[in-house]
Amino acid sequence: MKVFAHRGFSGKYPENTMLAFEKAVEVKADGIELDVHCTKDGKLVIIHDEKLERTSGKPGVVSDYTLSEITAIEANLTHPECHGTTIPSFDEYCSYIRDKEMVTNVEIKTNLYYYADIEGKLLQALKHWNIEDKVIISSFNWLSVARFKKLAPHITCGLLLERQHMIDVAVLAKEMGIEYYHPDIGIIDDEDVACCKKNGIGINCWTVNTSEQMKKLIAWDADGAIGNFPDMALKALSRA
Ligand code: G3P
Ligand code: CA
Repeated sequence: MKVFAHRGFSGKYPENTMLAFEKAVEVKADGIELDVHCTKDGKLVIIHDEKLERTSGKPGVVSDYTLSEITAIEANLTHPECHGTTIPSFDEYCSYIRDKEMVTNVEIKTNLYYYADIEGKLLQALKHWNIEDKVIISSFNWLSVARFKKLAPHITCGLLLERQHMIDVAVLAKEMGIEYYHPDIGIIDDEDVACCKKNGIGINCWTVNTSEQMKKLIAWDADGAIGNFPDMALKALSRA
């Protein structure tokens, strides 16, 4: 099972910052999950919320800022003891990760705002940095996943699902040519796991923050655990 650091090592460091990504690499996570939006000038930037308030204390939404403006903003409010942790551009992340043996789960955040051609821009960046074979592209907005898959059938994708339980997601994923199901750990059950196995769909659950949840995933022989404490997950797998 792969251990993904959710928004980087966000349990101990400011989420979706280079520091959180570096710390995930340091503890030897297998992968990193991160969230992308587009700026006012149409560039990819790594941040979870549409609004800057929670992580930076700044007004407005991502698309109010240009890339140069937003990447100058500190994003440490989830861990104020850390300093110098600005909002990273997606290019900054790719330049750091490209020579590392890490899988990157890029979540396209188009569930509230749709950014024009964000899927095309993401594909262009992955090609530029030559990391097409080291990513999983996911979104709650399955239209974004379908659009990305159409542009790049060779790149691995996942369908994200939160809150409501839905039967046969694996059947839908298979029909769409999507490789993974990414459910909230609270909504997946034995029947869903069996359906995924039967249809050849991999399972990466989130947000896996306890050893009890890890036990559940181990019993299911899930493919990935996406959580805020990669050190805990690795320990549960006797890898740390
Ligand atoms: O990709 C898994 C997880 O990150 C989805 O939820 O809200 O943390 O982006 P959220
Ligand atoms: Ca996410």
